[in-house]
Amino acid sequence: MFRLMFTVFFLALYCDCKILNPVILVPGDGGSQIEAKLNKTTANPFCYFHTEGYYNLWVNQEELFPHTITCFTDNMSNSPGVQTKIPGWGDTKTVEWLDPEHVADILTDGWKSTSYFSSIVNAMVEWGYERNVSVRGAPYDFRKAARNVCSKQQYKSSIARPQHGEPYHIVLPKPPATVMENKFIQSFITLAGVWGGSVKPLILLATGDNMDIPWLWPSQVRQQQRSMPSIAWLMPSDKFWEKDEILVERPGRNYTVNDYEQFFKDINFTDGWYMRQDTANLVRSLIPPGVEVHCLHGYGVPTPGKLVYKGHMWPDIKPNVTMDGGDGTVNIRSLQGCLLWQDLSQTYFLKFIWQWQFDLY
Ligand SMILES: *[C@@H]1O[C@H](CO)[C@@H](O)[C@H](O)[C@H]1NC(C)=O
Ligand SMILES: *[C@@H]1O[C@H](CO)[C@@H](O)[C@H](O)[C@H]1NC(C)=O
Ligand SMILES: *[C@@H]1O[C@H](CO)[C@@H](O)[C@H](O)[C@H]1NC(C)=O
Ligand SMILES: *[C@@H]1O[C@H](CO)[C@@H](O)[C@H](O)[C@H]1NC(C)=O
Ligand SMILES: *[C@@H]1O[C@H](CO)[C@@H](O)[C@H](O)[C@H]1NC(C)=O
Ligand SMILES: *[C@@H]1O[C@H](CO)[C@@H](O)[C@H](O)[C@H]1NC(C)=O
Repeated sequence: MFRLMFTVFFLALYCDCKILNPVILVPGDGGSQIEAKLNKTTANPFCYFHTEGYYNLWVNQEELFPHTITCFTDNMSNSPGVQTKIPGWGDTKTVEWLDPEHVADILTDGWKSTSYFSSIVNAMVEWGYERNVSVRGAPYDFRKAARNVCSKQQYKSSIARPQHGEPYHIVLPKPPATVMENKFIQSFITLAGVWGGSVKPLILLATGDNMDIPWLWPSQVRQQQRSMPSIAWLMPSDKFWEKDEILVERPGRNYTVNDYEQFFKDINFTDGWYMRQDTANLVRSLIPPGVEVHCLHGYGVPTPGKLVYKGHMWPDIKPNVTMDGGDGTVNIRSLQGCLLWQDLSQTYFLKFIWQWQFDLY
């Protein structure tokens, strides 16, 4: 989920129009900053137990080193004594850059950068948008699934203050959990929407994903990755994968979309099965939002399609991954899930596209 390069197509909206509809940017998994305050009674001896105020927890590149990674995973796992909050509601700053400390470095840091929506916001400002006023961010606690991540009231209160009364455009990478109220919403623009799940989260759940950081073992970050209901939510959906398509193969056992209960038992993480049951239906029915939809995604980047574990490798050592089409993270069939709405009235598809290189740190 981390440091993925993907290409998105961004719509050349409003080029000929005078009115700029305000835009709300809703980030994806990993795309909001998280701050934490600690008051712990137990922790690894290398870790702080107590902090006076809130400090930046995600993304903090200094935490991804061998001696601090266990502190980080502990802090990120909602363990007792860790209080977290999501800074910057309504402003763009915390969704433009994920690591507040590294803004200067990362400008020259290419693909390692923690820039998120910043190039999009910079372009919008050139078109006449104003940060924090007509383009706003809606960061949220991405570790949770869409259930209760942010109250409807919170969204309403920011939606209810459009500057000159023009309806909003909403840009978000995940489909909405509930039908939106279209009175205030002009259009819904999705970038790399995960309509039907993705195979990659199965790696995070079974093995852990060290994000290609060479000194980290996948198992060192697995506990934290397993603790996020949003990862279970992103597992492949049975509406997009056939019941006989093997997602995970290991000696003596194969798993399909219908074997998740057994999969979680076999990786010794039965809580994951409850997380999956709690989240699987959030967008499963794919109800169209009832507003104009623009659905944009990248393609042509090898994307995990099937995981093959050999003997002793299961599940702790990275599997051999058979590639599928997609944007590097999300399988193409899932990215194209919004096409299911194509024939329904009230939804319209993009007319003009620009290609943008957009890197999710
Ligand atoms: C920290 O936790 C201890 C007990 O675990 C509690 O007595 C104390 O009031 C807490 N301090 C703060 C600032 O929350
Ligand atoms: C949480 O992260 C901080 C920030 O670097 C780290 O210093 C601290 O040791 C961690 N705390 C715990 C209890 O893991
Ligand atoms: C937007 O709000 C942030 C605070 O979250 C502030 O630091 C930033 O300067 C504001 N940007 C503008 C252009 O006013
Ligand atoms: C798992 O699937 C592979 C084909 O992908 C097959 O060769 C193997 O026999 C299957 N294993 C089991 C236990 O069914
Ligand atoms: C799960 O736990 C059982 C009992 O502790 C152990 O025998 C088994 O090897 C574990 N399986 C995995 C995949 O870690
Ligand atoms: C991974 O799978 C490919 C294709 O089946 C095979 O050629 C390769 O040897 C495998 N690699 C490992 C490390 O198992």
